[in-house]
Amino acid sequence: MKTQILSTKTEDIKKAAEIIKSGGLVAFPTETVYGLGANALNEDAVKSIFKAKGRPSDNPLIIHVADKGDITPLVKEVTPKAKALIDAFFPAPLTIILQKSNIVPNATSGGLDTVAVRMPKNEVARELIRQSGCVIAAPSANTSGLPSPTKAKYVIDDMLGKVDAIIDGGDCEVGVESTVITLAGDTPTILRPGAVTKEMLEAVIGEVEISPAVLNELDKDETAASPGMKYKHYAPKARVMLVNADKESYERFVNAKANAFALCFDDDNVTIPHITFGKESDGESQAKELFDALRQLDALGAKRVYARLPEKDGVSMAVYNRLIRAAAFNIIDLKKPFTIGLTGGSGTGKSHICKYLKTLGFNIIDSDLVAREVVKKGSALLTELQAAFGDDIVKDGELDRRLLAGRAFETKEQTAKLNAIMHPAIIKRCEEMADGLCVLDAPQLFEAGAQDKCYKIIAVTAGTDTRVERICKRDGITKEQALQRINAQFDNGYYAEHSDYVIQNDGQDIKIQIDRIIDEII
Ligand code: TXA
Ligand code: MG
Repeated sequence: MKTQILSTKTEDIKKAAEIIKSGGLVAFPTETVYGLGANALNEDAVKSIFKAKGRPSDNPLIIHVADKGDITPLVKEVTPKAKALIDAFFPAPLTIILQKSNIVPNATSGGLDTVAVRMPKNEVARELIRQSGCVIAAPSANTSGLPSPTKAKYVIDDMLGKVDAIIDGGDCEVGVESTVITLAGDTPTILRPGAVTKEMLEAVIGEVEISPAVLNELDKDETAASPGMKYKHYAPKARVMLVNADKESYERFVNAKANAFALCFDDDNVTIPHITFGKESDGESQAKELFDALRQLDALGAKRVYARLPEKDGVSMAVYNRLIRAAAFNIIDLKKPFTIGLTGGSGTGKSHICKYLKTLGFNIIDSDLVAREVVKKGSALLTELQAAFGDDIVKDGELDRRLLAGRAFETKEQTAKLNAIMHPAIIKRCEEMADGLCVLDAPQLFEAGAQDKCYKIIAVTAGTDTRVERICKRDGITKEQALQRINAQFDNGYYAEHSDYVIQNDGQDIKIQIDRIIDEII
């Protein structure tokens, strides 16, 4: 198919309208992103949209109208809340979902009994609809799964040869697709955030909910309120990882990355190859630039991209929503005190693994060493221990560990008492020491309740025989004593269930296992 490239001049819009009238496909500018339009009430024309985009047929389209009055025939009822929103906002980057009327073909509504309608702000778009003499169904004019096009050149990249015409209307003003709100259920619910924010909508119609799929990944068995939410979206070729960090930590993190790209804010001091997407705390500028930035990264051949995580409020919610999808919900959480919590029973060889992690640039925080430090001569904790276990556990200002251990491990209650004093103090001190990428080496990570302070948890396991051998050699105790110690700890199943990764350390090459994990998480 030969694709005509048209301008926004009156005669070109007329040409485009003729194409729509005769059942053809025209890509056109809107204030949000470019749309791929066809007569919404012509089933065959609508089917060709799905074909050109490679879009699953159960993903419904938005019907674009030129005038508010054109909405009435498309829906069962323009409900009072719908009327309020239409009067307050239209024309706007806002799509409203209502019960559909019989004139809307199933192809357009993806087989649903509801229909999405929107009156775009862009004058060219409205003029095209008016001239076509019909309402226009238009998804974003990208190949399904790719970022929506905000410039004509991206429409040309995706759609040349697949559509009859493309109207070049310059850059889109908003940059992310319209806000989608459904009024078809009990409470108005945002299915896709955009430039018309929750606060703006609530000012007009009162309480508005946000569909869980907007900010979170749905479980496999959950159904998305909006079919579009279940598909892979906005995905560049690169693997995108979002970094939840303040400006300085982000800069330190990405600037240490070789062979990677950054997707950062305008003012970030980034020294690796990067593309910016707007200003920090300015959702509007981020929205405008995001999709363009994702496409630029592809053009540069980026394989791995570390992106700054936007806020979740106002227009930034739309940016956040698109970016977490582009990143397949992959968020590196550097705001947690510890990058990695490393745990596992005695004799599994954690220290060996820490040594290797240190060579990879991690700061290692050894909780056993910290446990000694917090009860050093003159510490407040020593006095606390004395009050709990007897004055005589301190001799010449130093803790008599043997005596304390004897008393603390006599009964379960005594052990719990010791842990309740020691664990919070140890974790607090470890947190004070945490800086940059760090590993908390903590055999009692779970017992201390420190798991939530770690971005990822790695457990180390090993076979019982190996562990017994290691413990006997290291601590000079008998086999029976070693076994007793192992049996008092969590079993391998517990660690596997509560950790993100498990490293099997029976003497095999742990480097391969660790390299794979580190590559996946950061
Ligand atoms: O800004 C926009 O809305 C752009 C421009 C071209 O107007 N259009 C756009 O369309 O983004 P599209 O098809 O790429 O996204 C429409 C979204 C999809 O996620 C779809 O699943 C959802 O709206 N949608 C459409 N009709 C729906 C319905 N009846 N119920 C629930 N979700 C619906
Ligand atoms: Mg789309």
